[in-house]
Amino acid sequence: MKGKILVTGGTGYIGSHTVVELQNVGFEVVIIDDLSNSTAGVVDQIAQITGIRPEFHPFNLQNLDLLDAFFEQTKGIGAVIHFAAFKAVGESVKKPLSYYRNNILSLVNLFECMDKHRVNNLVFSSSCTVYGQPAQLPVTEQTPRKEAESPYGNTKIVCEDIIRDYTKANPRIQSIALRYFNPIGAHPSALIGELPNGIPNNLVPFVTQTAAGLREQLQVFGNDYDTPDGSCIRDYINVVDLAKAHVVAIGRLMDKKNESAFEFFNVGTGKGVSVLELLNAFEKATGQKVNYRIAGRRAGDIEKIYADTTKANQVLGWHSAASLEETLLSAWNWEKKIRKMD
Ligand code: UD1
Repeated sequence: MKGKILVTGGTGYIGSHTVVELQNVGFEVVIIDDLSNSTAGVVDQIAQITGIRPEFHPFNLQNLDLLDAFFEQTKGIGAVIHFAAFKAVGESVKKPLSYYRNNILSLVNLFECMDKHRVNNLVFSSSCTVYGQPAQLPVTEQTPRKEAESPYGNTKIVCEDIIRDYTKANPRIQSIALRYFNPIGAHPSALIGELPNGIPNNLVPFVTQTAAGLREQLQVFGNDYDTPDGSCIRDYINVVDLAKAHVVAIGRLMDKKNESAFEFFNVGTGKGVSVLELLNAFEKATGQKVNYRIAGRRAGDIEKIYADTTKANQVLGWHSAASLEETLLSAWNWEKKIRKMD
């Protein structure tokens, strides 16, 4: 056994894939998740994939007493991966206080408990949203952060700042923030994947639901951007590849290989893909036609962004592996599985 890792938000989309990868390489995992955007059944699915049932504690990290009691009774945690957060951009504009309270307080409470119970390592789930629309592409970690477009985006910026300040004030605590580009796809077993609540905001769940007949038509938000085909460009990263970046980051912290108390890394493929290219790749990979129409631009959308992954490649030794097509096929297999289309 390599050590015990606390994964907050471990039944969520990226969290569940990360729990699987941690267990696959021999870590013991304990999950805290309030199930606000996932179900307890995910723990069964993880157990089915790995043969190991992670310990699971359903509560919200805003509750400092519960969190403290959890740390009191759970000895030997070597590191924390903190995913638990609200993540819907539109909702965050309508309910900013709920986003600030949940996302910020959860991190503050975690740090208080980590300090008290002598847990020193934190991997934090950040986002390329901190870069806004960058002046230069691809985006390196030196690219300046921009003022956030939404309260959700701002919680990522503020949490990074809290980590920066706290790791400065408390030399025992070390942290790595991973700035994800656009995570897509599902585990190849199709036992875990993304489970959006209601109408999906993100592109790939909308594509798979349209192909599955749940949605009539996908809207492509804009074809008049300054890009080769006019649609927006993103860097779509396979969720299993992304999960593996967390395992590497944990190893780096636990082996004390980090060069500073707070490091951050872009996690993407390094390739920019337009919405229309993604639709083509989906049709090619799955043989499914997607009914779509070109619609107006979506407010707040970034025109194009993709990662420079040199730092993650060289310093973490991490590389994305899956092709866009195999990733889209995994998303489709997952959609078919949950809609019982097989
Ligand atoms: C969005 C959030 C970002 C967050 C990320 C989490 C916004 C503005 N940004 O990123 O802060 O970190 O999700 O995954 O919401 N698209 C369509 N039709 C659709 C849906 C999307 O054409 O029905 C296009 C979008 O215009 C965009 C691309 O698909 O060009 C990707 O959109 P999406 O999956 O929502 O991700 P982001 O906007 O990159």
